[in-house]
Amino acid sequence: MSWTAEIENGLETGIVGRRIKYFSEVESTNSVATGMADAGAAEGTVIIAEMQMQGKGWMGRRWISPKDGIWLSVILRPRMSLAHAYRLTIVAGLAVAKTIRGYGIDAWVKWPNDVIIGGKKVCGVLTEIESETANLRYAIVGIGVDVNVDTQLFPEEIRTGSTSIKAELGHPVDRAKFLQRLFAALEYEYLRVKEDRFQGVLNDWRGMLATVGKRVQINTPIKTIYGEAIGVDSEGSLIVECRGGFLEKVVAGECIHLNRA
Ligand code: BTN
Repeated sequence: MSWTAEIENGLETGIVGRRIKYFSEVESTNSVATGMADAGAAEGTVIIAEMQMQGKGWMGRRWISPKDGIWLSVILRPRMSLAHAYRLTIVAGLAVAKTIRGYGIDAWVKWPNDVIIGGKKVCGVLTEIESETANLRYAIVGIGVDVNVDTQLFPEEIRTGSTSIKAELGHPVDRAKFLQRLFAALEYEYLRVKEDRFQGVLNDWRGMLATVGKRVQINTPIKTIYGEAIGVDSEGSLIVECRGGFLEKVVAGECIHLNRA
């Protein structure tokens, strides 16, 4: 059976993954998804690739995407203002963390959108949006999970900070089953956002956020912030207590945990 048939066989979703476009190799699933969304692809369409040659990461970085991982993009078309687009990234991080916990692994979210296990990154999310005035036309939610990847083969600068599900469990997992669970989790959280129940999503996300209580360094395009992460507000922004008790609210940025405990 082909991989897509395996995924579709027993899939319990109504939106996410009802249409799957599979590639053995692409530059970036996000780029393919953008082209397909522009051409009118349906909401929930998933683009998945065995390998990416030019995988895109946060802040213009490259995302290493060898075989045995899960590299996918979902096309979403919610009626949503641009100001709320970050909710889709929260949906993705939460859905991945919950899916991984389903394997008995202690996965957490590192603000804003990494999934980590024992302080090491196992998943990254890159959401790209297309807008019309103040509203979203579509969003491409790109998700990369090092499911069965041998992270020992990663370049040294990211090797020590990365892990995989295979490394955590000591054996590989069935990627088709992982995807079925992930699609179901994504759809569950996405419907909560669409049906105006974002507070429920936010509460679950808060409960899985490893960042609160940590000393952090946040790199934003304009400055670097040091302090203690003391919470997230109702929109998912991180509240950081800096020297002298001064509070900074950070909407987006790269977050580094300075202590692991
Ligand atoms: C990050 O830097 O943490 C975000 C990484 C996002 C990677 C995924 S893999 C599937 C999708 N296609 C891409 O080119 N990037 C995202």
